[in-house]
Amino acid sequence: MSQKLLLRALRGEKLQRPPVWLMRQAGRYLPEYRAVRAKGGSFLDLCYSPELAAEVTLQPIRRFGFDAAILFSDILVIPDALSQQVRFEESLGPLLSPLIQSRKDLALLKLEGAAAHLMPVYETVKLLRQRLPEDVCLIGFAGAPWTVASYMVAGEGSRDQAAARLWAYQDPQAFAMLMDILIDVTAEYLIGQVKAGAEILQIFDSWAGALPEGEFQRWCIEPAKKIITRIRAVFPEIPIIGFPKGAGLLYEDYALHTGIDAISMDSTLPLQFARERLQPKLTVQGNLDPLLVVCGGKTMLQEAERILTMMGPQRFIFNLGHGIVPQTPPENVAQLVQFVKQWQA
Ligand code: CP3
Repeated sequence: MSQKLLLRALRGEKLQRPPVWLMRQAGRYLPEYRAVRAKGGSFLDLCYSPELAAEVTLQPIRRFGFDAAILFSDILVIPDALSQQVRFEESLGPLLSPLIQSRKDLALLKLEGAAAHLMPVYETVKLLRQRLPEDVCLIGFAGAPWTVASYMVAGEGSRDQAAARLWAYQDPQAFAMLMDILIDVTAEYLIGQVKAGAEILQIFDSWAGALPEGEFQRWCIEPAKKIITRIRAVFPEIPIIGFPKGAGLLYEDYALHTGIDAISMDSTLPLQFARERLQPKLTVQGNLDPLLVVCGGKTMLQEAERILTMMGPQRFIFNLGHGIVPQTPPENVAQLVQFVKQWQA
């Protein structure tokens, strides 16, 4: 059985200290990332260049000694693979076109080419398994169908995912067809990542918090469950982390009914709730506010200490409540990782 710390935490073993990695640990806050990024090409070109994508995945491992690396890619490679055009504009974020907003628009999506389009990502995973230090886990990931659909429908990041929510109310059958396409492609994509060497998977449902109870059940829990069932038919043992960001009290339903092994908490989730309602059932991950890592110093460390004391060291993975932001000073990340690694219950 693997002795890698993150895998042990996912098995529920009692540890000296929890494993630590951070969402968006590769990215613009690192000068060495910006240097690779400046070599030309678009952000998606970087995602589809195995050598470069592997390099930027390894950068934060070398610099900070995280217990896990997360494959460098993006959740929006899926719409891109389905032939919806995806561009990343400086300061505008992702832009997708044409918009997918009706049954008729679904015909614009092309399923045949998707598998071949995603091959370079599997190549990156293979390189990483060869190059990662022996004690570091490799996490593969995908966006959850609801979150990916919210970009496909709005054509951009939106504050409240109104376009997707409205379509789902007005024509649930057609919206379900889009979701079924995403469920299929995403399950295949994650299976491909495990075949290539990913040891853990994380499913990012960043906009789960926009949905009322019934909609959450239908568009977040059910799709996650279907994807996980499909993956488990091929890889029964692969640990899967779910991240239904912003879901509040619905975190419990998600934890119980999707089949995940661990759940990633956003920064607003109360630790007392997590400890009483989630941790007895599965491993929890999180949830330091990413802005505390911008802030740094005592303010950051005091909150890290509180989280570690409340949640560690069993069934717990130290992480942020959402991704590192670009203005984060790398030295604060170094201090945080040091702090978690020397912490003892
Ligand atoms: O280090 C890692 O975490 C691995 C790589 C990773 C990226 N995106 C790289 C990236 C992961 C896991 C993601 C997930 C992702 N992408 C999510 C889910 C998690 C979350 O943050 O909620 C979402 C919603 C996206 C979509 C996305 N990608 C947006 C909205 C943006 C633009 C905003 C921004 O930060 O610029 C991206 C671009 C992106 N994805 C960058 C990186 C490093 C920055 C692009 C650049 O370098 O120019």
